[in-house]
Amino acid sequence: MKLGAPLLMAVSLILVHPVFSNAAARVTSRKPKCHEDERSALLEFKRAFFSESLCESYDYLVTAKLESWQAAKGEAGDCCAWDGVECDEETGRVIGLDLENSCLLGPIDSNASLFRLVHLQRLNLAANDFRSSQIPSAIGNLQELTSLLLFQSSFHGQIPWEVLNLTNLSFLDLSNNALELKSPSIENLVRSLTKLEGLNLCQVVMSSPLPNAIADLSNLTSLAFANCSLQGELPMATFELPRLETLDVSLNKNLSVRMPEFRQSSRLKSLLLSWTRCSGQLPSSLGNLSSLNELKIASCELSGIIPSSVGELARLYTLDLNGNQLTGEIPPSLGKLVRLGYLDLSSNQLSGEIPSSLMNLAKVTLFDLSYNRLTGQIPSRISGLTSVLKLDLSYNRLEGPMPSTIFGLKNLNKLAVISNNLNGTAQFDLLMKHQSLQSLYLSFNNFSLATKDLNVSLSTIVVLGLASCSLREFPKFIAKLDTLQHIDLSYNGISGKVPQWLLNVSPENLAHLNLSKNSLTGFSSYPVKFKWANLQTLDLRYNGMEGQLPVPPRSILFYLASNNKLTGQIPPAMCQLSSIQILDLAKNELSGVLPSCLSNLSNTVSTLSLHGNGFYGRIPRLQKGACELKMVDLSDNQLQGPLPRGLGKCVGLEFLNLGNNRIVDTFPSGLGSLPNLKVLILHHNRFHGVVKEPQGNHHRFPKLHIIDLSMNNFSGGLPSKYFDSWNAMKFAEPDEAVYFTEQMVQEAWFSTSSGEYDYSITILNKGIEMEYNKILEYLTVIDLSSNSFVGEIPSSIGSLTELHLLNLSNNAIAGSIPSSLGNLTNLEALDLSGNELTGKIPPELTKLTSLAFFNVSDNRLSGPIPREKQFNTFENSSYARNWGLCGAPLTKKCSNLEASPPPPSQGTSVKEDSRTWIEELDWKIVLMGFASGLVVGSVVGLNYTARIERWFVDKFCQGKQRRRRGHRRRRVV
Ligand SMILES: *[C@@H]1O[C@H](CO)[C@@H](O)[C@H](O)[C@H]1NC(C)=O
Ligand SMILES: *[C@@H]1O[C@H](CO)[C@@H](O)[C@H](O)[C@H]1NC(C)=O
Ligand SMILES: *[C@@H]1O[C@H](CO)[C@@H](O)[C@H](O)[C@H]1NC(C)=O
Repeated sequence: MKLGAPLLMAVSLILVHPVFSNAAARVTSRKPKCHEDERSALLEFKRAFFSESLCESYDYLVTAKLESWQAAKGEAGDCCAWDGVECDEETGRVIGLDLENSCLLGPIDSNASLFRLVHLQRLNLAANDFRSSQIPSAIGNLQELTSLLLFQSSFHGQIPWEVLNLTNLSFLDLSNNALELKSPSIENLVRSLTKLEGLNLCQVVMSSPLPNAIADLSNLTSLAFANCSLQGELPMATFELPRLETLDVSLNKNLSVRMPEFRQSSRLKSLLLSWTRCSGQLPSSLGNLSSLNELKIASCELSGIIPSSVGELARLYTLDLNGNQLTGEIPPSLGKLVRLGYLDLSSNQLSGEIPSSLMNLAKVTLFDLSYNRLTGQIPSRISGLTSVLKLDLSYNRLEGPMPSTIFGLKNLNKLAVISNNLNGTAQFDLLMKHQSLQSLYLSFNNFSLATKDLNVSLSTIVVLGLASCSLREFPKFIAKLDTLQHIDLSYNGISGKVPQWLLNVSPENLAHLNLSKNSLTGFSSYPVKFKWANLQTLDLRYNGMEGQLPVPPRSILFYLASNNKLTGQIPPAMCQLSSIQILDLAKNELSGVLPSCLSNLSNTVSTLSLHGNGFYGRIPRLQKGACELKMVDLSDNQLQGPLPRGLGKCVGLEFLNLGNNRIVDTFPSGLGSLPNLKVLILHHNRFHGVVKEPQGNHHRFPKLHIIDLSMNNFSGGLPSKYFDSWNAMKFAEPDEAVYFTEQMVQEAWFSTSSGEYDYSITILNKGIEMEYNKILEYLTVIDLSSNSFVGEIPSSIGSLTELHLLNLSNNAIAGSIPSSLGNLTNLEALDLSGNELTGKIPPELTKLTSLAFFNVSDNRLSGPIPREKQFNTFENSSYARNWGLCGAPLTKKCSNLEASPPPPSQGTSVKEDSRTWIEELDWKIVLMGFASGLVVGSVVGLNYTARIERWFVDKFCQGKQRRRRGHRRRRVV
């Protein structure tokens, strides 16, 4: 597992290792001769592990200490004079070995000559590559060790018991390897090594709580347990350790941390609790930590206010409280933190105005208040942030103008004010003259931009976010910005053709261009010749683009051109886009046969949406070899012929929609082996024949959530064995399909309004269009309507308890309605109309308290209609043309014999969460990064269209994305 570089650095800095500070210099005038046995042990060690070629392959930072180790007699042969070797001045014994980052390579075991150096007190082998060796048990021979540093050296496996023999250890750093501490456990270790002053076990997997015995290590100054899979609760006593200066338990998602009352006597300098589970509020005793430099409690579920006592932390350099649920105003006292270099309060619920006192923070380089509810104006004293490099006020409710003083911030590198209510004229000339500014995000405000006649010759701008800035034409000044990598001009009112000059903007550097949601009608000349050699994203969606499909440069990864009026065929040159991952041409007027070479793309494309065009002919066969397809939507075309056979090899396939075409084939049971297929829509084609039961245990569509076979000509019995095995319809699964989003987020966008992909579904119900958003994961559907299925409804269907919609209407299904349908307690729509069903409506169906739609009309049912709960809401039409049914709401009365039976007595209560599928109109959630326009199918007479609105994401601020994911995690739970 790799940690990000910043963490690694932080980790290796945590322990101060004074012991090695001057090993070489310490060898002073009276040089003791080294002992022959130790000299040969050292030379043997060099021969076994020193890799000159590794050293050469590194950069200049590597110190090749071992180069000075020579076998020669005389001065050069005195090992006490060698780099990295420290000898005892009296005895001449080797007592220290500092071989950090010294090009040591290869597996190590207990036979290594190193372990003969039994007088060693200090051993540092960090930052080498021991090739996943275990820590050799011979380490226990080195009984005199007071300091052992093995961080980041590719050690692997369980830490040996023998480490516990090293009872003289004051400093132990085993961090950033692939180690485990289970047997012995952290408790064993803490009880044995009682002299520890510094302990760094970051990234050592423990999967246990921290023992209370940690409190006995009374000399501890530094304790680092980041990313150790700690569980349970952090012992309160940890905060009481009298000498503790550094406490890092961040990145332990299952560790609960209760905030203590902090004492004035505390020596804490670094308190790092991010990504654990804090409960409650920040105590105002935090202000007692007068030595504190660094306070990081990000994404920790903190609530309440920021206590104003934080302003007493006069030595504070870093304050990071992002991604919590902090409320109230930002305390003005923070303005007293004059040493502050890093302030991140983003992604909370802070309100009120930005206190002007914060503008005293003259040393702050990062100032991030984004994603809060701040109001009022940007203080004009903002020029007081004289050192600021990154200034982010996005996603607040700030209003008024951008103060011109902001342009006085000489070091400003990134300025982001996305999605506020800022107005007035943004002074571009000043912004563009700003020589250090690289990223400028002004999107989604009410600015008017004075963009004409700008002298931008000095600009080094890289990212320019001008979405929703009321632009009516392309801003000319961008023509001269040769350093631009990203431009976002979406959500403006730019009309007409894309001018030729735009295609010459930043030809070497442009990577992402977003022109979506404008009123563009096409390009100035065809065929369109793009000059961008490194373009990765081209977004032309939601315009009125006419003419033929432009072919993007070969470097393209994401090409999005849906919702336009493009005509003609897919040019064969599209087949040469050898890196493309997302191709979205949905909802255009494209036609013709899909070029067979299009199948070349299946080894890179993950998302392919061609839905809603006029394509005809056969679907191209898939290439042999890799298939990266995850989402394929070819619906609403006139495609013919059979399914392409290669699809069964696309093991990543999650979503396949071929609805509304003219495909002639039998049921594609071969797709049943796809481990991730969640959605299969074959609606309205010419599929035919019996849906054969699956052979064996494979091929059963294990992840299927939505299957729509409606309006085909399938015959034979209902596939009951499939029903038995569709586990995803039986058990609610936690959200797992996040990766689509992540993949797209990584690469694509940079200004955002909601941050991710909203998966929205429009329901057309009796001509009324309603839109709601929902996790596709949670929508489970079986629609087998309008086929020629015969036989009975298998009672096993009652095991699919997560099912939301079941439509078996318009077949020739006979027999009675199985009472097991009463187990489908999540069912919101049940349509069995237009069959040959007989017998009674089982009274068990009254258990279906989520049912909002019910139709059994046009069958041969008889007996009384149940009258409990939801059944009080259905109208006559639900029961029409069943000669034998009686009772309300029908006018036909039941005879005494037929009197309505009492409901079954399994005390089912009406679900508390009575929001139904149809009522839930704005449950916003993010699921898969489908590019756009997916017709999902038609169920129970409701046509619903799944659609995706692709918003834009801040690419550069990776931390922000992690926060957002964190937020989502909480929302979903
Ligand atoms: C080292 O530890 C092992 C087991 O923990 C123990 O059996 C052994 O006696 C110890 N050796 C020394 C020299 O203390
Ligand atoms: C703690 O450190 C002091 C000296 O700084 C020392 O005298 C004492 O023995 C140490 N305690 C333990 C438990 O090692
Ligand atoms: C900007 O918005 C404020 C209210 O937020 C308003 O009073 C002011 O007139 C607006 N200025 C311009 C130039 O539109």
